[in-house]
Amino acid sequence: MKTFVGENGAWLDSGFRAGEFGSREVMDLSLTLRPHAAVRAKVTSVGTYVPPRVLTNADLEKMVATNDQWITERTGVRERHIAEKGVGTSDLATEAAKCCLVKRGLDASEIEVIIVATVTPDMFFPATACLVQDRLGAKHAWGFDLSAACSGFPYALQVGAKLVESGMHTKVLVIGADVMSSVIDYTDRATCVIFGDGAGAVLLEPCLGDEVGLIDYWHEIDGSGATALNMPGGGSLHPATTETVAAKMHYVHQDGQAVYKFAVRKMAEAAETVLTRNGVTPRDLSCFIPHQANKRIILSTAERLGLGEECVVINIDRYGNTTAATIPLAMQTALDDKRLKKGDLVLLASVGAGFTVGATLLRWEF
Ligand SMILES: CC(C)(COP(=O)(O)OP(=O)(O)OC[C@H]1O[C@@H](n2cnc3c(N)ncnc32)[C@H](O)[C@@H]1OP(=O)(O)O)[C@@H](O)C(=O)NCCC(=O)NCCS
Repeated sequence: MKTFVGENGAWLDSGFRAGEFGSREVMDLSLTLRPHAAVRAKVTSVGTYVPPRVLTNADLEKMVATNDQWITERTGVRERHIAEKGVGTSDLATEAAKCCLVKRGLDASEIEVIIVATVTPDMFFPATACLVQDRLGAKHAWGFDLSAACSGFPYALQVGAKLVESGMHTKVLVIGADVMSSVIDYTDRATCVIFGDGAGAVLLEPCLGDEVGLIDYWHEIDGSGATALNMPGGGSLHPATTETVAAKMHYVHQDGQAVYKFAVRKMAEAAETVLTRNGVTPRDLSCFIPHQANKRIILSTAERLGLGEECVVINIDRYGNTTAATIPLAMQTALDDKRLKKGDLVLLASVGAGFTVGATLLRWEF
């Protein structure tokens, strides 16, 4: 049995139970450290970018029949950032990636893999990862895009971690980026108030010494929910025609209540699964970083898990739902607020279109 000893990051053999000492100084979290990889992956840097233009609730009041009170109470969003015309997801992703590399002091040529999670690629092909690779000058990287909507970032994080755990790669850039304003109907008050544009990037590298990094994850997809949240036009089933455009099939379509009900149930379920099978109780967690879909969904999940609000990172008020970018943006908020430090036990959770569901348990290692 291993015991984590606070700030110095040392692990010792011991039989003490979690919380026995009434503080986080000495904790036995009985982590299973799935899978039993010889090399583990850790996050070593975070970089983010949002476009400068801000769309406030007051601005939306002038565009559709809505009001600040309704939006704030039902969603928690006060403002969101919106890309200018001509700015694509690769532009936001590149800026976030540059920021991430500068913070780590790395040259782009040292990056081996680039994974971009997005549902708003610049175009169907080439992959946004290729465009980002070129802009960064990451001349030794390969990469690809990953489509899992609001669970895109945690899914990409796990794929990247597996590439590190395989021993094949030591520097993997994982980016979550979306220009949701490109697929939103700004005459539909039910969706246009929720979403925003943004990007976040993290670097994955192998753990050193006793570091733990990414511990475990629980992912689930449920395609029976495909009609609850989608963008039906423009794909192989409904290629772009004047009819599909007239029918607004190139915009996000959402059954808000169906998504809401699924999200509050599944985010908590996935999180409980990953905590339970690692012998972790909510009070062992330093930080809960959920996908920022809706403040009520986040608070309801936290309540179901028995987590205090002080543990929960919320920035939906400033950014709205930026789909694949919410979790890295929230990681940056937690860092800025000094709520994330080396050794902290962190839980990520998400639900997105698909449906896609994810929960990740990790130790913060920088
Ligand atoms: C979209 C969402 C905020 C709507 O909230 P809700 O409480 O479910 O509201 P409803 O859809 O039942 O609509 C209630 C009323 O508000 C109205 N309404 C909808 N959007 C509105 C807006 N922006 N401003 C004012 N009124 C609005 C509806 O038309 C409806 O009016 P009616 O009763 O006269 O028909 C909520 O369902 C939600 O957050 N769902 C999850 C969405 C999500 O997280 N998506 C991303 C998943 S990753």
